[in-house]
Amino acid sequence: MNEEYINGLRSALLVSPDNNPLRLLLADALIQHSKLEEAEVELKHILNKDQQQEQAKLSLAKVYFLQTKYSMTIVILEEIAEAKSLSAEYLILLSKALLRNNEAGKAIEYYKKSLQINPSLTDEELDLNLRNSSAGNSDVNQLIEDLEEGMKQIEKPSIDFSHVGGMKNVKEEIDIKIVQPLLNQELFKKYGKKIGGGILMYGPPGCGKTHLARATAGQIKANFISIGIHDVLNMWMGNSEKQLHELFELARRQAPCVMFFDEIDALGASRSDMRTSSSKMLINQFLNELDGVQYSNDGVLILAATNAPWHLDNAFRRPGRFDRIIFVHPPDAEGRENILKILLDGKPVGDIDYKTLAKKTEEFSGADLMSVVDRAVESKLREALKTGLPKPIETKDLLNSALDVKPSTKEWFTTARNYALYSNESGLYDDILAYLKIKK
Ligand SMILES: Nc1ncnc2c1ncn2[C@@H]1O[C@H](COP(=O)(O)OP(=O)(O)OP(=O)(O)O)[C@@H](O)[C@H]1O
Ligand SMILES: [Mg+2]
Repeated sequence: MNEEYINGLRSALLVSPDNNPLRLLLADALIQHSKLEEAEVELKHILNKDQQQEQAKLSLAKVYFLQTKYSMTIVILEEIAEAKSLSAEYLILLSKALLRNNEAGKAIEYYKKSLQINPSLTDEELDLNLRNSSAGNSDVNQLIEDLEEGMKQIEKPSIDFSHVGGMKNVKEEIDIKIVQPLLNQELFKKYGKKIGGGILMYGPPGCGKTHLARATAGQIKANFISIGIHDVLNMWMGNSEKQLHELFELARRQAPCVMFFDEIDALGASRSDMRTSSSKMLINQFLNELDGVQYSNDGVLILAATNAPWHLDNAFRRPGRFDRIIFVHPPDAEGRENILKILLDGKPVGDIDYKTLAKKTEEFSGADLMSVVDRAVESKLREALKTGLPKPIETKDLLNSALDVKPSTKEWFTTARNYALYSNESGLYDDILAYLKIKK
């Protein structure tokens, strides 16, 4: 942008003096060139004729701010903020003007609002000053920290369903209950099908629950927030309900967003540890958020996982909550083949006999298979460092390392079998029995 551009705009305006968008362009160009007084003239020219020109007001507020006329900035922006909502960018401008005008209390309010609209737009000056200012009530410190904490928790996964081997039935459930409703919102509305409720996955460790949750977000290009219930309980003792609410709010603002609750059994009311009394309240808070009565959960997709479904409160299983409860079992032979292919993808490999490998890794979880691959890679590396000759991974390397890995799901099944045999209310654990080939 240069003089020529500005002159061009000026000549064009001589021809059509009532072209406001053009005059706004000129004003913006002038602001960028720090010709603030000239910009002011143009903006006032627009506003003289039509006081409703909001964009002109916003630009004028910017000019005043740059001229350090903070109270003028405040008057303009507050007037607009009262009538409608300002964008996060202008809320920050307003907050800064207030701060510099020694009105920290109000500055905080507007900064909060801007962070709620767009948590990634933080401002260093405001952060530094508002946190430590006398007016900087602990509320704001807390909020800023929570939001930052929240941003840290948000990711945009780069993996999708193609990175998940096996798990066909779980993928199908997620597809019909989460992916399709999001992709075809109109269709689902037409049939009066409310989108909501979550999917709860349970099963032995290392079989891909967390992995699939992350891939679900990647599959629909949504944000992903992973929440460990133990963290909620431990880090935020006494304040867990509020924190949980904040996390849901964060997800609602970042929709479409997959919220993944790990170790959800930690919310179990049936456990008799010392946290029980506080966790009753937390459970209620969680269920309220889940029901989305007070706040809409549009575009917020809920997945949860547990190794110990037997600790889970029955209230979780009600319709609209976790009405799909899916057993995630160790991969079958075909699943193991797929997982191995995924794990070896991009690595130097020879001609791998996946069928044989799948046969020799019965009962292995995805995590166990990962460990097999890791070991094979390590041995190849050691060899290559010794000989100076890198060689591809072969079937026999993988078979060898499989001998050193024990399937890690046995212990879980010992416990699960007992629940399935003796506490199988309303057939909750029929899937486990079927998997163990136990006839009822
Ligand atoms: N089906 C699968 N496809 C591809 N990789 C898998 C699969 N299952 C497990 N893995 C690999 O194993 C790792 C561990 O799996 P994951 O953490 O998802 O297990 P989990 O079921 O969540 O276990 P836990 O109950 O202990 O939390 C994953 O990071 C992934 O690399
Ligand atoms: Mg997990």
